[in-house]
Amino acid sequence: MKKLHMMLTATAMGVALALVGAAQLTAQSDQLIAVDEDTFGCITEMNPVRGFFVDNLLGDLDATLAVANSANGGTWPTGSMVQLVPTEVMIKQPEGTSAATNDWEFFELAVSAEGSEIVTRGFTDVVNRFGGNCLGCHVKAEPQWDMICETGHGCDPIPLSREMLTTIQQSDPRCNRPD
Ligand code: HEC
Repeated sequence: MKKLHMMLTATAMGVALALVGAAQLTAQSDQLIAVDEDTFGCITEMNPVRGFFVDNLLGDLDATLAVANSANGGTWPTGSMVQLVPTEVMIKQPEGTSAATNDWEFFELAVSAEGSEIVTRGFTDVVNRFGGNCLGCHVKAEPQWDMICETGHGCDPIPLSREMLTTIQQSDPRCNRPD
């Protein structure tokens, strides 16, 4: 009888802990901006800035463009979405989401005429198709650029010329879809 009681107590505690865990997870994901495959589309229909493209998922494009065009950099506002190539995306989640990435969430996509699929997403451990960790490179940008590399911000350069990048952007299979 005593043994049964202890077992029941242990089970009840297990359930209680599981519920607390679930509540914490929900609280955390509630704060995140919801992102799914429909969040993404033709890269060249975003707003061009010096050869890359930006948008703001919360509708505050002006705030995103203000930092993008600032000569001294700054902290990108929540909701900012940034892309250089069709398959790699950075989205600024709310402040406090990830101190290690300045709240940037990294995405590796697979794109086709049918749309986008999220291959991987996350903060510190997202790796691109070439085996490179997104944060590993982007963290090298000097602090005022908020992990945006471009050229001359302190990141190691990537082996793609402007011409190659333009070609890659213009070959996004999601552009000019019939619907
Ligand atoms: C080998 C280092 C490296 C890795 C790995 C890497 N990037 Fe980058 N990324 C760069 C550099 C350098 C640029 C700027 C290139 C340029 O403008 O010539 C860049 C540009 C970008 C941009 C445009 C804004 C900016 O910072 O200039 C985005 C968005 C981006 N990368 C996302 C990602 C994502 C998402 C991943 C992982 C899936 C990733 N990158 C992996 C080095 C890297």
